[in-house]
Amino acid sequence: MNQSEKFVFVIPEYNGSFPGVLKAFLDGLDRSKALMDKKCALVGISSGDQGAGLALSHFTDILNYCGTNVLAYKLRIPKIGDFVTEGKITNEILLNKIHNQANKLIGF
Ligand SMILES: Cc1cc2nc3c(=O)[nH]c(=O)nc-3n(C[C@H](O)[C@H](O)[C@H](O)COP(=O)(O)O)c2cc1C
Repeated sequence: MNQSEKFVFVIPEYNGSFPGVLKAFLDGLDRSKALMDKKCALVGISSGDQGAGLALSHFTDILNYCGTNVLAYKLRIPKIGDFVTEGKITNEILLNKIHNQANKLIGF
């Protein structure tokens, strides 16, 4: 992450927010080298119907504190189990959203 300018965080919803281990990972980084003035996109996934919306908000606050700019287009994928077959996403609407977000991140 020290050498990269842009990231995508794919975040599973855990007790209504993001997993604590992700915060521990962030805490272990060198903030000035890994996060400051970097750019990222967020994808939230959940087995329930919230799509990790709150998790993305919570994580955005922390990233902003660390100086990372978060793309406004955040992808929420609820009921992830319904969209993945043998490790692949085949739903056209969802694939379009993923490509859309990727293109926005490239231009960010
Ligand atoms: C501690 C804990 C917190 C969880 N929090 C959420 C949550 O916030 N949102 C959600 O959709 N699923 C949540 N789950 C459910 C998991 O995503 C998953 O559906 C469940 O653990 C079954 O996983 P499996 O199908 O791989 O066995 C949570 C599970 C655990 C054990």
